[in-house]
Order: sequence, then C-alpha cells, then structure tokens
Amino acid sequence: YVVDKGNHKHFMEKEIYEQPEVISHTLSHYIDFAEGKAKPIEGIDFANLDRLAISACGTAYYAGLIAKYWFERYARLPVEIDVASEFRYREMPLTGKMAALFVSQSGETADTLASLRYCKSEGVTIGAVVNVPESTIARESDAVFPTLAGPEIGVASTKAFTCQLSVLAALAIAAGKARGTLSDEQEAEMVQALVEGRRVLGEVLREIQPRIEALSRDLSHFKDVLYLGRGTNFPLALEGALKLKEISYIHAEGYAAGELKHGPIALIDEDMPVIVIAPHDQLYEKTVSNMQEVAARGGRIVLITDERGARETALQTMETIVLPQAAEIVTPLLYALPVQLIAYHTAVFMGTDVDQPRNLAKSVTVE
Ligand code: G6P
Repeated sequence: YVVDKGNHKHFMEKEIYEQPEVISHTLSHYIDFAEGKAKPIEGIDFANLDRLAISACGTAYYAGLIAKYWFERYARLPVEIDVASEFRYREMPLTGKMAALFVSQSGETADTLASLRYCKSEGVTIGAVVNVPESTIARESDAVFPTLAGPEIGVASTKAFTCQLSVLAALAIAAGKARGTLSDEQEAEMVQALVEGRRVLGEVLREIQPRIEALSRDLSHFKDVLYLGRGTNFPLALEGALKLKEISYIHAEGYAAGELKHGPIALIDEDMPVIVIAPHDQLYEKTVSNMQEVAARGGRIVLITDERGARETALQTMETIVLPQAAEIVTPLLYALPVQLIAYHTAVFMGTDVDQPRNLAKSVTVE
C-alpha cells in the first residue's frame, strides 16, 4: 500500500472508493467462493458456545451491533454487546460457555483493550477483529480475525467498518454451519449473495455519487439531521449520524425507526431532514408508516432504499437514493456507501478538515 491520496481530495474519499477492492479481498480470506462455503473458524469453538460478548468503540461498535443481529439470526447464538467503556462496569457474569469478540480498527483503543484484559483475567476465550495485525489487541487475543482494509488514515472510519462487517458476516455464516443452524443450501445462498454484493459495490459508488453530492449541498444548510432504520439498518442509522456529526459538525442523531414516536417526533419540522435507511425487506412497511408520520408533520425525507422500495412509496421525498436489490446479509455493506458519502460530501461543502476533524483522534489510547 502506498499511503497517499492518489487522485482524491481527501484520504476519506480515497478510502470510501477503495471499499470494493478491500471488501473483496477481506471476504476472500474468510469465504471459499469456489466451494460456496464459509471457511471454518479456528481458535473459537462456536459450536459449543452458549453466548458471545462483543465490545468495541465508535464505528467498530456499530459493526458489532450489526453482527449481533447476524449471530443471533443465523447461528442462534445469543450476543451481549456493549460499548467497551461500559462493559466492565455492569459486571456481567462471565460464566458458562462463552467467548468474547473485540472489534477495533487500530487494535489499540484503551477502553477496548481494558475490556479484553478483564475478560481474559476471567478466563474467557478472546477473539479480535482488527485491522492492524501487530497491534496490542491482536497480540493479546486467542484468535485473530484480520480485516484486510489496508492502512486507514482518515479519522472517520469507512473501509475498516465495511471490512469489519465482511469478517463478521463470514464468521456468522461459519458459526451457523458449526452450530447446525444453517443448511448447506442456506450457506450457499448467502455466499452467492456476497459474491453479487461485492460485484456491484464499485458501480453503486459511481452511480450514487452525483445525487449524493447534490443532496449534501442542501444538507449542509441544516443544523440537525435525524437518521432512522430498523433491524440491521438501525445500527447503520447510528453510524450515519456519527459520521455526519464527526466530520461536518452538524448535529445528528440515529434512532430505531420504531422509537420515532417515543421522542424525536417532537422535533420534526422542515428544519430537520430525516434520512431513512429502508431496503424493501420484511420491515419496510413499518418504516414507511414512520415516514408518513414524518411527512404529516412537514418533515423532509431522504429515502435510501432499493428499486422495489422506491416504487412502492408515493411519499414526496427531498431525495431518494436507489440501490440494487440485495440479500439481507449484504445490505449493511451496500447501505454503508451512501451513508459515508453523505457525511463526506456534506463536510466538504461545510469546508471542514475532513481527514482531521477537530477534537477527534484516529486512535484513542486513554480511557
Ligand atoms: C476513534 C475513531 C473512530 C473509531 C473509534 C474506535 O473514535 O475516530 O473512527 O471507530 O476510535 O477505534 P478502533 O481503532 O478501536 O476501531
């Protein structure tokens, strides 16, 4: 890897555009595409676990939150997930057959490392999903699952996040196989979906870029933005809000779409755009009714959906970003792209220091 910006204005932009390549690379490490199978996991005996604890910070935490849905759904493995800075304080009983997974780009984040050491001192098997293989977290783990994103320079994590998702998706499939909760056919289907997913990433980036740039010009005039999603799109809504506030300094919040009526709806007016992440899945109809609640109050909606989702709503939107139809295991990878590009272009319009946002550090080594 040559660490320069190439033809890009910022490292963040370069890293967003590297994703098709690094995601492919990472997936190939964990999935045997020729055989249509996830490679078996070494170092953690997923077949014999009662539960899995995941902890991480920031964007890596959101990757873990998405993985919770996957491990529970596909491997029927209960997952406890915490931000690493809270993990130790709730004094979760570390009993039974459990393993702990720590997700970290740098492998040096102090809170994540402290939770790792806490689990280790209690005799729990430790797995690490890290981007820096020689990092402290990697060295202190029993099993290391590298993300092959290459060096990430932009403070706001992009390619490391989607590579974390790629590793976690493969681990969830492999765990499902090991635990007998996924059939060979289901595994083959999911692997096929990942093949198709990684193939369209580059095209998606090119296609959505102009619309997102135009949308971001408008968004840069607002002070507050709300992101909504359900299921795995809920953590993605959190990630969207985090990215936007980190680099554009616009106040943003992510919410589970169903929680709209329990609070944030009080804030809805034409001054707070609502970005809704809603592929046409089994939760789509419910999210549409949330959008209707927003529209009824004069809220502006940005809808990120697929072809079917775009066809099936008659709602007026500020912008609709249309992505290809994709299987459930692939949508977080695809939908991360518009979420990242919105934050990136909005920040560029705001004129902020995109790669080095104020007050933030790439790797946080204090608790
Ligand atoms: C910092 C970075 C984030 C990152 C988080 C966790 O806040 O700005 O981009 O997600 O730390 O870092 P890690 O290296 O553990 O993934």
